[in-house]
Amino acid sequence: MRVTVCRKAHFNAAHRLYVKSWDDQKNEEVFGKCSNPHYHGHNYELIVNVTGTLDPVTGYVMDMKVLKDLIKAEVEDAFDHKNFNEQVPEFTDLIPSAENIAVVIYNKLFPHLDEDKTLEVVLYETPRNFVKYSG
Ligand code: NI
Repeated sequence: MRVTVCRKAHFNAAHRLYVKSWDDQKNEEVFGKCSNPHYHGHNYELIVNVTGTLDPVTGYVMDMKVLKDLIKAEVEDAFDHKNFNEQVPEFTDLIPSAENIAVVIYNKLFPHLDEDKTLEVVLYETPRNFVKYSG
């Protein structure tokens, strides 16, 4: 029997969406306020869904404490109160859109999960805008 366990997390971070080879006007046409050269912040809400086999002995899919600590180490400690463009190495040459942030989070978490697990990352950039990535 396969069951999904879900953990919520949160971080605040700043970003600017822009293509380096475009001028400010073109970036504003494409990205709007998110291309503000002085950056802006979001309160990101993260939902991490891990699906795996329910262990009949423990009743667990995975230990939620392990999942909590993994998200803290790989996501919260790495991203919280950071400027994605300036301070997070994964975004040196990658636009820190919600889509790309979700993919980066997936790629940071997935290698730490047991082989029987599948992962889905849901990332809210605003209460109404969110993206999903599951590999
Ligand atoms: Ni933005």
